[in-house]
Amino acid sequence: MPSPGASYGRGASQEKDGGPPSRVLIAAELRDLLPEDPLPGYEVEWIAAKTPTPKGDYVAIIPILSRPLGDPELAGLPDLKVLAQCAVGYDNIDLEAAARRGIPVTNTPDVLTESTADLAWALILAVARRLKEGQEMLAKGEWTGWNPTQLLGLELFGRTLGVVGAGRIGQAVARRGVGFGMEIVYTDQVRRPEFDLATGARFADLSSLLGQSDVVTVHVPSTPSTRGLFDGERFSEMKAGALFINTARGDLVDEDALLASLDEGHLGGAGLDVFSKEPEVPPALTNHPRVFALPHIGSATTHTRRAMAALAVENARAVLDGKQPVTPVVHR
Ligand code: GLV
Repeated sequence: MPSPGASYGRGASQEKDGGPPSRVLIAAELRDLLPEDPLPGYEVEWIAAKTPTPKGDYVAIIPILSRPLGDPELAGLPDLKVLAQCAVGYDNIDLEAAARRGIPVTNTPDVLTESTADLAWALILAVARRLKEGQEMLAKGEWTGWNPTQLLGLELFGRTLGVVGAGRIGQAVARRGVGFGMEIVYTDQVRRPEFDLATGARFADLSSLLGQSDVVTVHVPSTPSTRGLFDGERFSEMKAGALFINTARGDLVDEDALLASLDEGHLGGAGLDVFSKEPEVPPALTNHPRVFALPHIGSATTHTRRAMAALAVENARAVLDGKQPVTPVVHR
């Protein structure tokens, strides 16, 4: 079900009473991923992420995830017919505020599943095999030669991969885990029988998953009920030496508690693509020898980013034409 109040039945006229074409706002960062005239018949205004959302008679907005869109911004966009987020996550958008105004919200799922799962695996492998420490050893000229006890990591084959949130991305990460010879355990709001059958995955509650997983990988959205989910208590429930991987959202994690657990030597390492106050990243995390940190590049392949931008435009176009969007956000 789309957002309550969302209406797809009143397409925006491209030309207002024979006047100039209707205006749309598109994130300037998407420009190189889109054709020159992405929405023929509409006048595009490109807004850079740092520019506050302008007020005006815009009929569509295609933002990236760093742009907050709630009551204050939507109040200045009285003609808005669609909010077509170019990301799968939409925690920057106040869905209630959009629904109250009857503005449908769309996102870009599916097209980024495989690239994001690949990046989760890049982090799993990097942390399990201590790639950062190895690379630094070479860069600092500290390598003295092959040593049988040097940089010993975690062997993944036969270990357990705990998937927190078995939606599209969580399942894609798990499928790769099967290829690496890992047992899969997952937690979610619902059981996923087809996934169980395909991967041999076992369903568990979160505490049980944390207690049995050698690698925990997080794939839940940021919502009021998941924010801060990984606190000191959760980290202490994890197995000693286990690895924590987050390619979802930074605010799911209490970063101080994560750091404390790493410093105590309880957690064996962390792979992080997301942070709670992006683009600020606590230096203690990025500099930690057992943390492999990346600047939110989960879906960053040319193929995927082009597909995301194209899907966001397709969603906007559909609603402006009075049709159902391809991938509406379900707002409960
Ligand atoms: C990226 O984080 C996204 O939500 O697409």
